Amino acid sequence: MLIVALPGEARLAGRLARLLRCGWSELRLHRFPDGETLVRIDAPVMGRCVVLAGSLNQPDGKTLPLLFAADAARELGASRVGLVAPYLAYMRQDHRFNAGEAVTSRSYARLLSASLDFLVTVDPHLHRWRNLGDIYPIRTQAVAAAPMIARWLRSHVDHPLVIGPDQESGQWVAEVARLTDAPWTVLGKTRLGDRDVQVTLADGGPWPGKTPVLLDDIISTGQTLVAAATALTQAGMAAPLCIGVHALFDSGALQRLQDAGVTRVVTCDTISHTSNAIRLAPLLARAVLAVSHHSTQGKPP
Ligand code: R5P
Repeated sequence: MLIVALPGEARLAGRLARLLRCGWSELRLHRFPDGETLVRIDAPVMGRCVVLAGSLNQPDGKTLPLLFAADAARELGASRVGLVAPYLAYMRQDHRFNAGEAVTSRSYARLLSASLDFLVTVDPHLHRWRNLGDIYPIRTQAVAAAPMIARWLRSHVDHPLVIGPDQESGQWVAEVARLTDAPWTVLGKTRLGDRDVQVTLADGGPWPGKTPVLLDDIISTGQTLVAAATALTQAGMAAPLCIGVHALFDSGALQRLQDAGVTRVVTCDTISHTSNAIRLAPLLARAVLAVSHHSTQGKPP
């Protein structure tokens, strides 16, 4: 097996290579003056299972180099070509919300699947799609961050109450709560625009003696968690701690959360960010082994 780091992803590739006891190499990129890109893989790939590694936040600039690299690996004789993308882009546009819109989750899946044999990711945003197989025809593994989040929670927070900011977060919240033996609830969210959300406390509360822990899969503008934290404190609860799986964080998101009074913001390391505290590489490595092993029909990678 060979891990090929997509631009800026040397740390992820190095960690995976160490855990999988294989080599890794950085994908070389050259931008021509006309804006086109040349990619080069600097390690032999003939007969090897090549695993491209890199998160797909800010995906538009990353996707063409990724596809070029996958095609190059295959043309140069790789036995299999896979992708470990701890954050998988475009999953939230899973419906034609307004007439004429593209359902980009499906288009993006078609695009990646044309060049890859397998895909490993972490907690993809599954809402209207039930699983990745609904749109990805290739072999996929969706790693659940819940066990690592629960482990972090057990060792850092006393008496947590795990709270999801919306119905969709129920899937992550319920599992983390189960693993930590904690109570849980979800709030009601209405999205009015990219940066405009309303969150209401449907019932229950204020749960005296509990430490409120807001948990969501994605923190992007931070507005969802800001609105949720505000709803909790207005209901008389203590200021919450926030945990996110994917730290997309647009500029100012962290500051907005701090201004809303949250006690701490913690994320998994699917996207490199100062809030990363929960490491997922061991789970990713295990998933790569499982999926690549399976896609070589029983032969070790
Ligand atoms: C949406 O369905 C996701 O689960 C997150 O709640 C959302 O993406 C968070 O975005 P933001 O931080 O911009 O409110």
